[in-house]
Amino acid sequence: MHSPGVRRTVRRILLSVFLFALLAGVGGFYLLLQERALRQAASEARILLTSALAIREYTTDHILPKLSRLPEEEFHEETVPSYAAQTVFRAVARTYRAYTYREPALNPTSPADLATPFEVELIRRFRADPALDEISGIRATDTDRLFYLSRPIRVTQERCLACHGTPDRAPPAMVAKYGSTAGFGWRMGETVGIQILTVPLTEAMKGSLELVGLLGLGLALVFGVAYVALTLSLDAMVVRPLRALSSAASAASQSSDTRRPLPKSGAGEIRDLAEAIERLRTSLGKALVQLGGRGGSRGASLPGREGG
Ligand code: HEC
Repeated sequence: MHSPGVRRTVRRILLSVFLFALLAGVGGFYLLLQERALRQAASEARILLTSALAIREYTTDHILPKLSRLPEEEFHEETVPSYAAQTVFRAVARTYRAYTYREPALNPTSPADLATPFEVELIRRFRADPALDEISGIRATDTDRLFYLSRPIRVTQERCLACHGTPDRAPPAMVAKYGSTAGFGWRMGETVGIQILTVPLTEAMKGSLELVGLLGLGLALVFGVAYVALTLSLDAMVVRPLRALSSAASAASQSSDTRRPLPKSGAGEIRDLAEAIERLRTSLGKALVQLGGRGGSRGASLPGREGG
């Protein structure tokens, strides 16, 4: 067995470094991008949910007080905080499909606001823990991966009970429109529903996959170029000069022909080595000549020597 040459050793080292860098780089970058996409979605969702809340507050504080001045037989949904917020966000969702906003409740005034099983579960969690004020996560639908952010809707103002308390206290025109069976009987402090907002993740995730692919390609390219450059220069600077040197050195050990040239190319260290061997060869030649001159009878000539 022959121990592996420089070229093979270097190739092995380069390949393992490359594989490690590719895995660590691409994997780490992917995780980083996913994490970033998630953080971005979360902050986007938080801003949007805050604006939904602002619409609710605006309606409660600025529109609702005007309602008391309306005649009994008139009711306008525009004065309802939930209606205002959901209507504005339906308009947003017409342009940005996966951005949705809902205010589902367990006992909703409008049938459209009936909580889905997923939303019921969130409402249950908020009802079970009054200190909990936000739940977020990722949901997959048939077409999209969505980031959702939800906050509880708790009845914190007496004003809400004007319409959600009992049907006889509610504006008659509202009861006429929505009926007297649902959306009533809410109590102060009760968690009646949630605000739930979704933000799409699919695009961001796809984007991060693309970036990771690009990084992988870039790394492979850099490593490919580095590999070719290194092996070529290793060949020119080390492997070939070393081979020439070793054949010259072995030829010198068998012959005193000092005219046989030693390689003058290769890395500095190899040239130094060549010079050292050259000196060694010269002094060996001289020593042998002296030895040969002193006493031929003692058999000073080496085997294979052609005289000197
Ligand atoms: C003027 C009457 C009125 C007042 C005051 C009012 N709401 Fe409503 N609320 C409604 C009506 C009507 C709907 C149904 C709107 C729709 O068609 O989407 C509704 C819907 C909701 C919904 C969505 C679920 C459902 O029942 O359809 C929530 C949650 C809600 N209201 C909470 C509140 C809270 C909290 C307050 C107090 C800040 C409040 N509401 C004040 C009339 C009112």
